[in-house]
Amino acid sequence: MARAALAQDGGGVQPHLSFAHLVRRFPDGVRALDDVSFTVPKGQFCVVLGRSGSGKTTLLRSVNGLTELDGGTIRMGDMDMSDATLRAIRRKVAMVHQSFNLVERASVAANVLSGAVAEAPSWRVHLGWYPARLRARACAVLHRVGLDEIHLPRRAAALSGGQQQRVGIARALLLDPEVILADEPVASLDPAISREILALLRDVARERGATVLCSLHQTDLAREFGDRIVGMRQGRVVFDGPPARFDAAAEAALYGAAEMPMRPAPHLIEEPVYA
Ligand SMILES: Nc1ncnc2c1ncn2[C@@H]1O[C@H](COP(=O)(O)OP(=O)(O)O)[C@@H](O)[C@H]1O
Ligand SMILES: [Mg+2]
Repeated sequence: MARAALAQDGGGVQPHLSFAHLVRRFPDGVRALDDVSFTVPKGQFCVVLGRSGSGKTTLLRSVNGLTELDGGTIRMGDMDMSDATLRAIRRKVAMVHQSFNLVERASVAANVLSGAVAEAPSWRVHLGWYPARLRARACAVLHRVGLDEIHLPRRAAALSGGQQQRVGIARALLLDPEVILADEPVASLDPAISREILALLRDVARERGATVLCSLHQTDLAREFGDRIVGMRQGRVVFDGPPARFDAAAEAALYGAAEMPMRPAPHLIEEPVYA
């Protein structure tokens, strides 16, 4: 499918993910999602861009059932996600986390194989008994993310931050997901490693035709890696288009000073925590 076709919302392409009027309110009155609607075609690398607190994590977690909604519907293909069981969702939707979410004391192999939790019975996962087919697949995905056999027995904690996120991506790929949710996957990494990891995520998703919803707060990375940018501010979509259309005015609408007149944009003041 042409990249140009993927870069447009819908564009005649059957939507893979569709969000309609999502609302998530917290008891203190915050609307983390305030009537969010958009659709994502299959295979698109869709960046959800916004400052801290704009609702990115809430949106991503609503897709895999980790956040309940107060209103609205999410569909994946023909499936209404509110009707799907968590197990059914986890077979099709994988997540990559900001802080990697690895079991640090466990081996790389065990961490990658834990991505099979939706497929293997949980007692098998706890005992570390996996079928040979899954173990072979774990080796294949580990290879694909740039690690090899010598890393399998190492404790996750012994790896660098970039290598840990490669393990996080391998775990996400284990069951060949249709959708990959990546929540600020490079926020804990330095800039050069961030670009390597985003390029890897984009490439592995493209090879498999997987749809990616990737939250970021850095505009430069969003422009470079997104097929499309959905900009969020205070729980609302305030920009939706290809990176070429994300100009200074769009950036100002997303990060601008309207509600916080005395502060610079948060992407200039947020100190990254390097792993
Ligand atoms: N469990 C919660 N309880 C109360 N407020 C929350 C909770 N989770 C998120 N929020 C609020 O919802 C808004 C959106 O949060 P979040 O989705 O984490 O944004 P982002 O990922 O863009 O930083 C923020 O104002 C945040 O404080
Ligand atoms: Mg977040």
